[in-house]
Order: sequence, then C-alpha cells, then structure tokens
Amino acid sequence: METKKLDAVNDYQNTINIASEILKSDGIVAVPTETVYGLAASAYSDDAISSVFTAKGRPQDNPLIVHISNLDMLGDIACNIPDVAYACAKAFWPGPFTMVLPKGDKIAQSVSGGLDTVAVRFPSEKTICDIIEKSGLPLAAPSANTSGKPSPTTAAHVIEDLDGKIDAVVMGDDCTVGVESTVVSLVGESPRLLRPGAVTPEQLKTILPDLVIDNAVLERLKDGEAAASPGMKYKHYAPRTSAILVEGCSNSFVKFVNQKSDCAAICFEEEYYDISVPKISYGSKRDESTLAQNVFSVLRDIDTLGVKEVYIHAPSKDGVGLAVYNRLIRACGFEVIKL
Ligand code: TXA
Ligand code: MG
Repeated sequence: METKKLDAVNDYQNTINIASEILKSDGIVAVPTETVYGLAASAYSDDAISSVFTAKGRPQDNPLIVHISNLDMLGDIACNIPDVAYACAKAFWPGPFTMVLPKGDKIAQSVSGGLDTVAVRFPSEKTICDIIEKSGLPLAAPSANTSGKPSPTTAAHVIEDLDGKIDAVVMGDDCTVGVESTVVSLVGESPRLLRPGAVTPEQLKTILPDLVIDNAVLERLKDGEAAASPGMKYKHYAPRTSAILVEGCSNSFVKFVNQKSDCAAICFEEEYYDISVPKISYGSKRDESTLAQNVFSVLRDIDTLGVKEVYIHAPSKDGVGLAVYNRLIRACGFEVIKL
C-alpha cells in the first residue's frame, strides 16, 4: 500500500480533514502527540484495530490506549469512574498521563486485548485533538513504531518503520516530551504506577498519596510472574547492537569506556570530550527533560555506529529521569553494570 505523507506544517487544515476521513473509513494514520507519534485507529472498529496490530507486528494481548479530546468523552470509554479519576484528569489532563479504568461497552473488544479495563489519555498536542474532534472518534493509538523498536519521536522515525504498511502519516513537528505517557491503574486496591513518564511520581502523589510503584518499572518480571500491564512482559526499545546500562559518576564512566575496545558510549554532554571511543551525547546529566526528549532518537542511532557493544550512562532516577531509566533498562535487556 502507498502511505500518504500529509503535511501538517504547511497544509494543516487539509491534513486534519484527510486524516479524519481515512480514520472514519477504518484506515490507520500515524499522528504526532506531545509524547511520541501514535498509530491511530477508530476505537470503535475491530477491523481498524486489527490493522494496527498487523502493521506494528504487535502481540494481540497487548492493549492500546484510547485518546480523547475532551473530558465529556470519558463516559463513552470507561464506566464506574471513581472520583479520584476526575481529580487526576483535573491535575494532569490534557497531557502525558494515562489512566486505566473499568472498560465501557462501546469500545471495540480488541482495544483491550480481552481485558475488562481500558487505558485512556487526553493528549495536549493540538494535531491529534483536532483529528479526534473532526472525525468524532476516540482514537486507539499505540506508539507508531515496529513492535520492539524504539518509539518514534519524529515523522522520519515513523516512515523508517511503517512506510508502505499504513494509510498515512501526519508529518508534524518532533515530539516535545520524547517518552510515552505515565500510565497509572486506578482499578486495583491502590493506585499503581505501571509506566513512568513526564508526569512524575512526586506529582502523582499530590493527588494519589497511596500510589504504589509496580516492581516491573525497574525490574525484570520473574518467570511466571503476572504483568499488571501486558506491555511489561515484552522486549522493548532494543537496538540490534548489544547495549549495557552503566551506573556511576562521570569520572568512572569515562575511565571505564576508554579502556574498552570495539565499543561506543552513550554519554552526558559533560563527559563527551573526555571519551575516546565513538560516542553520542543525549544531553546534560542535570536536565532529565532533555534526556527524555533525545533517548529514543539516540537508541535508533546506536546501530549506525558500527561497533559490537554500546555502554549507556544511566541517568538519575529522580523526576522524569525515572522514565528515561525505565526505557533504557529495557533497551539493555536489564543488563546493568554498577561502577
Ligand atoms: O504516550 C503514549 O502513551 C503513546 C502516545 C501515542 O499516546 N502511546 C503509547 O502506547 O505509548 P503503547 O501502546 O505503545 O503503550 C501502551 C501501554 C502498554 O504498555 C500497554 O500494555 C499499557 O499501556 N496498557 C494499555 N491498556 C492497558 C490496560 N487496560 N491495563 C494495563 N495496561 C494497559
Ligand atoms: Mg509502544
């Protein structure tokens, strides 16, 4: 199939109209959001959802997030919505925040991969909200990458993975947040952080003081352990080059990589000029938001370095750093060296 490239920078309104028409006829369209590009489909159509799973090569039991563009739509997606969900919506929407709630019966079965819950997000990016408004559809949208690869933060990343497999790409700006939304489940006994993102645990605890951080945020699932979020059990974000996460101060990291051969380093800008092997900086160690913005691009660039192994300097786990650490530890298959 030919994938249409819709120009959201120079031809915005036409792009919104065409994308909406494609979605209304059960087609699938990649769309920018503030976090990462999403691969959107009508949340009411099992046919459209099935095309999303096929294009991405995604396991059928890994459920999708449904995107809405105003709070009134929430009642169409979820049911038995607790008051605390409205408090979260007031604090964190529109924005990079997703809630898992009991599923309403209007939504296609396949959105939730057979679960009786549904993940919902109201993004802040105007393009996806305008497409939701214009089409009148809630949009199920996973990240617009091939399953297992780093999430796409530019239109070029989407084309690299999905050209010829989807109906269209809305070619918009690069994503400003750079890591996927914070996912919190509100269906269990206590609210549970399933995936860290730009809305940090500190911010969540202002509304959800009894928030539990799921073990899978920082640890590999044990054999046979059930995943609170199906996405946790799959391999994620991995470059083809073998990648290892390294914890330690700048001095130790520089010394460690400089005495290795046939390797490259993903480092902080503060240590860049002291490193003598091939290297890419992903930002200042003091600026977790920039590290988040760059992390997926850098993971894609690793395979162009032509080395056997890459050592990635781990960020702090504070604030948005926790989200960056969470993506990197998965990209490294939970291989960590502590210096
Ligand atoms: O920022 C984002 O959230 C992006 C943009 C496009 O909005 N979307 C995104 O979708 O990251 P995806 O499909 O790549 O990740 C969704 C995650 C998966 O780990 C999935 O297992 C989890 O959310 N999830 C979805 N529905 C769930 C549910 N009902 N219960 C538990 N986890 C769920
Ligand atoms: Mg994804």
